[in-house]
Amino acid sequence: MAVPRTAPILVASNRGPVSYTLGEDGSLTARRGGGGLVSGLSAIGPDANAVWVCAALGEGDREAARRAGDSHLNPGDTGGQQVRMLDIAPDVFAAAYNGIANSVLWFIHHLLYQTPVEPVFDAEFADQWAAYEAYNAAFADALAEEAVDEAVVLVQDYHLALVPAMLRERRPDLRIGHFSHTPWAPPDYYRLLPDDVAAGVLRGILGGDRAAFLTERWAGAFADCCAAVLGAEIVRDGDGDGNGDGAATAVRFEGRETRLGVHGLGADADFLRQRSRQADVDERLTSLRAQIGPDRKSIVRVDRTELSKNIVRGLLAYRRLLESHPEWRERVVHVAFAYPSRQDLAVYRDYTERVRRIADEINAEYGTEGWAPVALHVKDDFARSLAAYRLADVALVNPIRDGMNLVAKEVPVVSERGCALVLSREAGAYAELGDDALVVNPYDVEATARALDEALRMSDGERADRTKRLAAAATALPPQAWFLAQLRAL
Ligand code: G6P
Repeated sequence: MAVPRTAPILVASNRGPVSYTLGEDGSLTARRGGGGLVSGLSAIGPDANAVWVCAALGEGDREAARRAGDSHLNPGDTGGQQVRMLDIAPDVFAAAYNGIANSVLWFIHHLLYQTPVEPVFDAEFADQWAAYEAYNAAFADALAEEAVDEAVVLVQDYHLALVPAMLRERRPDLRIGHFSHTPWAPPDYYRLLPDDVAAGVLRGILGGDRAAFLTERWAGAFADCCAAVLGAEIVRDGDGDGNGDGAATAVRFEGRETRLGVHGLGADADFLRQRSRQADVDERLTSLRAQIGPDRKSIVRVDRTELSKNIVRGLLAYRRLLESHPEWRERVVHVAFAYPSRQDLAVYRDYTERVRRIADEINAEYGTEGWAPVALHVKDDFARSLAAYRLADVALVNPIRDGMNLVAKEVPVVSERGCALVLSREAGAYAELGDDALVVNPYDVEATARALDEALRMSDGERADRTKRLAAAATALPPQAWFLAQLRAL
């Protein structure tokens, strides 16, 4: 039985708000996810009749999706939210998600290719691209079925770049927005993509009424790509009267106009303050303190083990700090949380190995009986991350490139005594936090080591003052306001 058209508001994203594990006895256990979208969507309340369309990611999800058929998941599993989980054929899903989304589009926007030998666009790539189109079409079909007349649809991220245009074809009455949570590549780099793919992604997003980004910089790069690849016309702030700042505000292409928007997702202060004071976090705080040892400072980082996060150069900078500033030996611990991510991809597995190896090397080189210089944790544990935020003296956020980086925004909110932030200028968060962070070029290991030293030496008063200002900037647009702003703009 097909779902009736009832939803006035729809969200579409690859990863949904819930995931399932399948027990040996065939039982399904649901686990609700967190993050900006989940908390943003809760702003409109359960009566709004919103529907979230997402993909089944693993075997448990697939089974749950099969059991639900064309209907929504059991609301008991989703906290009352209406969620439609798409059971996309495993090989199609893998080619679209691992192949195109995570190995091509993610790599393009984060400038991750070793360009003398990568990327390789061969016959396998062509098959993956066809799978990506099919996967996007499955979302467009489901959204077209669920949406009431003139509904508003918020499509999320690089996984679903083709959905806006596909959905407009099926349902021209809808108001469609796309939001990119990643950076956007500059035109010269973006054009590494085969011409039809480069154009296809842009045309896909331009099928919507609005394309939104985390910072002006990424919105501007998108507009530049539209001009360079499609020859589209860019509308700029102040066009006509010469008074604006020249930022791109819309793209005109083939008789349609897609407005550009910027919404810098902020940290959820209420949630973080309340969650970080719970008993499980207290417990982990005690054991982290014991691990660091008395009278030692901590440099904390929390990331998915992700190539763009630049964890390796962070460790090299810390090693350089111990080498060039022997006075810090035995007086500091680098607490590095590097949670496994996208382990289906060999380059992620290799990178994870490399992180481990360098952490071991540093411990072997400098460690003493009572002091391990690096405490590397690889098991995902949100409560322990919050405990580390509470006690951190220094937070290291040094991505090669990052859409926003919420860790940079969460630490100042949760920190108890103030925390110095060493921040890459290539993180989206730099636009809002740059004034009170110690800003680094993420490729410059030497400069990062110097910034760590400066951060460790910062006086308590200065650290506390900066942290206060960082927390205010970091919470300017909490998830609920961020979500409502996008809805309103459509
Ligand atoms: C980035 C993307 C998100 C994605 C997340 C985790 O932040 O912008 O869309 O959900 O990474 O990646 P994963 O591949 O595990 O969903």
